Amino acid sequence: MTYEDFPTDDQTVVTAGLPYANGDLHIGHLRSYVNADAFTRGLRKLGQDAIYVCGSDMHGTPIAVNAAEEGVSPEEFALRHHEQYEETFPKFNVDFDQYGHTHDETNTQLTKEFVRTWEENGHVFEKEIDVAYDPDADQWLPDRYVEGTCPYCGEHARGDECDEGCQRHLEPGEIEDPVSSLTGNPAEYRRREHKFLRLSDMQEHLQGFINRMEGTSNAQNQPREWIEGELQDLCITRDLDWGIDYPGESVARDDSGEAANGSDDLVLYVWVDAPIEYVSTTKQYSERTGDFDWETVWKDGDGEIVHVIGRDIIQHHTVYWPAMLEAADYAEPRAVCATGFVNIDGKGLSTSKNRAIWAEEYLDEGFHPDLLRYYMATASGFEQDVNFSWDRFAERVNSELADVVGNFAYRALLFANRNFGGTPEAAVSDDVETEIAQAMDDYEDALNDYDLKSAGERAVALARYGNEYIQRNEPWKLDDDEAAPVIRDCVQLVKAVAVLLQPFTPEKADEVWAQLGEDGSAADATVGDCLQAPPAEFGEPEELFTKVEDDRVEELDEKLQAKIEAASTDEGDGEDVSEASDTELEPLADERITFEDFQSLDLRVGEIQSAEGIEGADDLARLEVDVGHEVRQIVAGIKQLHDLDDLPGKRVVVVANLEKAELFGVESNGMVLAAGEDADLLTTHEDSEPGTKVK
Ligand code: MSP
Ligand code: ZN
Repeated sequence: MTYEDFPTDDQTVVTAGLPYANGDLHIGHLRSYVNADAFTRGLRKLGQDAIYVCGSDMHGTPIAVNAAEEGVSPEEFALRHHEQYEETFPKFNVDFDQYGHTHDETNTQLTKEFVRTWEENGHVFEKEIDVAYDPDADQWLPDRYVEGTCPYCGEHARGDECDEGCQRHLEPGEIEDPVSSLTGNPAEYRRREHKFLRLSDMQEHLQGFINRMEGTSNAQNQPREWIEGELQDLCITRDLDWGIDYPGESVARDDSGEAANGSDDLVLYVWVDAPIEYVSTTKQYSERTGDFDWETVWKDGDGEIVHVIGRDIIQHHTVYWPAMLEAADYAEPRAVCATGFVNIDGKGLSTSKNRAIWAEEYLDEGFHPDLLRYYMATASGFEQDVNFSWDRFAERVNSELADVVGNFAYRALLFANRNFGGTPEAAVSDDVETEIAQAMDDYEDALNDYDLKSAGERAVALARYGNEYIQRNEPWKLDDDEAAPVIRDCVQLVKAVAVLLQPFTPEKADEVWAQLGEDGSAADATVGDCLQAPPAEFGEPEELFTKVEDDRVEELDEKLQAKIEAASTDEGDGEDVSEASDTELEPLADERITFEDFQSLDLRVGEIQSAEGIEGADDLARLEVDVGHEVRQIVAGIKQLHDLDDLPGKRVVVVANLEKAELFGVESNGMVLAAGEDADLLTTHEDSEPGTKVK
């Protein structure tokens, strides 16, 4: 099945992964929220009726643990963060149509309704399983209360996720060598009844779903191994006080039939009520405004559901969530778009180690939110990890937003205002009209491909065209009659750029809008308005963007370095939720090789000519590398870690005499050297020509 292109006649719900209400927001989180926000705004530009909903994720063990540490109730703790998020998001022009939280009445009721329907449909069963228990603390150890070894990859794992290793969701009882995180003592496994959602009932549905589902290729491919293998049923209850109570009869009794631990309370697993919040906020929006039909979209399937998440929660959104929806007779999402991670210094962000750029901290540095928005949406392909650096940030702000967009808009509008008092009376030339129409088409295609980077960059490319156009035609050398058509073209180009860039830089687009003398907001313009004439009169423009100066970058870098150093000398200072861990240095090899052994390696300087992802493979890219004598096709595991578009032209070191291999049906004729988990590509220090021997 293929979906109809956007815009459709239906209503669309765009969601972003709910933030856990347990800490400050950082730029890693913002990547999801900004991209989903820009995508929703982009859809509206195409004429799609779309809303953007989200909410705070209030439940789960990390919140219970953190609240206990602070000596406050989990509710008070989570609400405080929830309120803080409600203040922070608008500061980044992240404009939710509805923002709720998972502990509110709507979500509590709707979650219970889901579970009841699963029961009625026969998808829930009870099973006795091993659950970790701390005999000293005399309590069950759900999720984050237990640590141990991941049974799938052998890495250290905490509770319900293997966040330092294979990223898999872990079921209760799966962690090996369990240790209580409350007391640090070994935990024991005790038998215990819990409720399960029978995922195997949904296997056929999921197999169909994953083939229908649109979005990013990581989300389309990663779940296949689970969906095609034997699906493990999902434990949907936890021995915890904090959460939504299991509706109806509880099963939490121990072997003797006594209510275990003096309580027969079972709450629902946090990943049950969290995604249901997507539906609950849509419902709240419908009830509040009366202009959205949540049931048509969520129940009847006459609508489009698009989930934007980070790549760490793909399994939850492409396996568990669609199964939960199907089991409750709900519709399925049209697309799941999973962004790469934001890292700093090649490592995951860490809240407890302060290795992060905090959302509020960015604003305190005096930067405009739209700059970060643009950077977040276009810094790399959607699926690639981004290694945040102030240098790269400044480079994009300066060379794209300031030099191209800002410069063009200012020059064009200043000329128009000074010489014509606004838009000159003339027709837009065929060339410019064609160029704008082409940009509109490309933009629409990019959004339909869920490719925000291309959409954003297309807008900037149009401004670049404008800059070249004004340079080429030199209106300052012409008299007013001759200059009028040139400036008329430029003013139209400025307007088109403002419209197309609006989803990325909404406030800046409104500034241009006002400078053009347009009424209202650029938010209300659709792509079609790119070709509508701007008002005949407007005032003198102002510069849109200030450049980030080199000494600012230096100063910010120093601050960041100081943080990174403090973080690395502060190892072991508590662990974090949802963050990737530091990589440990591998020990040096004991065995020596001979000089001849080394010489048998034919290492060459290469120059990457092209780089593209390999369909169906999460990590692999197909490179064409010039190694002097010839151009080699080489497969490299760098797809998630590099922006493939940036690679052509880069010098690398190639093992030229490695035996050939075939990966995902693509022949690899050599190997590109790279350092560490982040595949930091090796290069030469000066400009050795491709083919030069490395010795
Ligand atoms: N509460 C869950 C999501 C439930 S959705 C039904 C969660 N919360 S989170 O606070 O850890 O993350 C919120 C969003 O930010 C998720 O989309 C997550 O993938 C994303 N990110 C969190 N840290 C990130 C980075 N360092 N980089 C990119 N995105 C990251 O997961
Ligand atoms: Zn693992």
